[in-house]
Amino acid sequence: MNTQNSKANYPDESVFGSERILEPAPYNTIPQKPTPPEIAYQMVKEETYSQTNPMLNLATFVTTYMDKHATKLMNEAININYIDETEYPRIAVMNGKCINIIANLWNSPEQAKWKAGAVGIGSSEACMLGGISAWLRWRNRRKEAGKPYDKPNFVISSGYQVVWEKFAQLWQIEMRTVPVTKEHITLDPKQALEKCDENTICIVPIQGVTWTGLNDDVEALNNALDEYNEKTGYEIPIHVDAASGGFILPFLNPEKRWDFRLKWVISISTSGHKYGLVYPGLGWVIWRDKKYLPDEMSFSVNYLGSEIYQVGLNFSRPAAQILGQYYNFIRYGFEGYKAIQQNCLEIAKYLWREIGKMPQFKNYADEVVNPLFIWHLDEEYNKSAKWTLYDLQARLQQSGWMIPAYTLPADLTDIIVMRAVVKQGFTRDLADMLLADIKSAVAEFEQLQYPTATRVAYENEEKLKGRVFTH
Ligand SMILES: Cc1ncc(COP(=O)(O)O)c(C=O)c1O
Repeated sequence: MNTQNSKANYPDESVFGSERILEPAPYNTIPQKPTPPEIAYQMVKEETYSQTNPMLNLATFVTTYMDKHATKLMNEAININYIDETEYPRIAVMNGKCINIIANLWNSPEQAKWKAGAVGIGSSEACMLGGISAWLRWRNRRKEAGKPYDKPNFVISSGYQVVWEKFAQLWQIEMRTVPVTKEHITLDPKQALEKCDENTICIVPIQGVTWTGLNDDVEALNNALDEYNEKTGYEIPIHVDAASGGFILPFLNPEKRWDFRLKWVISISTSGHKYGLVYPGLGWVIWRDKKYLPDEMSFSVNYLGSEIYQVGLNFSRPAAQILGQYYNFIRYGFEGYKAIQQNCLEIAKYLWREIGKMPQFKNYADEVVNPLFIWHLDEEYNKSAKWTLYDLQARLQQSGWMIPAYTLPADLTDIIVMRAVVKQGFTRDLADMLLADIKSAVAEFEQLQYPTATRVAYENEEKLKGRVFTH
């Protein structure tokens, strides 16, 4: 049927009365003729209907709620390309103000009017920029000393987020991982230093480890590194990957020293679109001082009344997220951010306590330090259970929830966990609804006569490793 220009052109035609709606949506080739906007809208919208409602998506760390003023501001800026600084110089200034505010939240010692930092599409770009700067600083030092600079490495825990694997592969920098184990559930500073040598460009502790929600101990690492650098003369720095923690710690735990108060912390990255409370597409990286930002990475513009530095992997990028971030800073202020993060933490703790009370489950950690946590099947219960957390994930999906089940990284891959990330917009009421759905799913699983398919697969794999099950 080729009807776009016939019936669809009558202005009184209804969307669902049109012949176009009977045609399949394009899959391989662009349609020959235009489609009326109402119908095109309907077709695109319909493709999204079967997805999770973002408010029930506890898998993502990324913001799923902003207020109507923020949404309006961002929609109004949707046609602005951030890179066009000449045309939109106020946005570059606003970006600089966001960098200043974040740098000060992280206790930057830099005295300059504009602090050294950069906007990114997310933490991934921000992590890359922090990593690249460490690599270039190391390389420049090695060149000056007349030493080889072809075998750089960096050190991180095996709880790293995939961006660090990308960084290693794309820039050909060896990634040396320190295993997280049942004994060391976060980065062990001693083992991290054992992996270092003269070719180590940086160590990367994480605040808000993606897999567990825990924080690496940056202060302990800094202190151990201080001694190590003194002894070896290597000057290995720290880049903190604070994708989620960067917007939690300053508000909920301002006394904790994880940021620029520590001597060897030279750069920090975070996601504005996670606990910075902005919709997807925003990351930030800050350097301790401009002198740590290699010249090769930055170009400066001086037509804004002062020098503003620009650093980034992308050239064009949306400006709307920067408006959203700046709006949030003004709208919420320190107290507002603190109240929101505190509520998220309280609700995460409530879920954690209630899940901990269920005999089938065990929480992975003894505390909840960020508004997210993981749990697994109780070890004893797991010996005779007929289901796995993958079944629970699928069952909860039927009620619209997205609560992911996955195996932990290297050295802990035998543990299947489930993770809940609590964000702004997730209320106590929703938490109670989720708990009720978890309880009713578990009650159903308890009635199973035969193990589920995921259980059979899991046991087969574990039996190969010599594990014994009691049914
Ligand atoms: C610790 C950590 N680093 C980096 C990233 C990548 O962040 P983004 O999705 O903002 O690129 C994440 C994402 O979850 C993360 O948890």
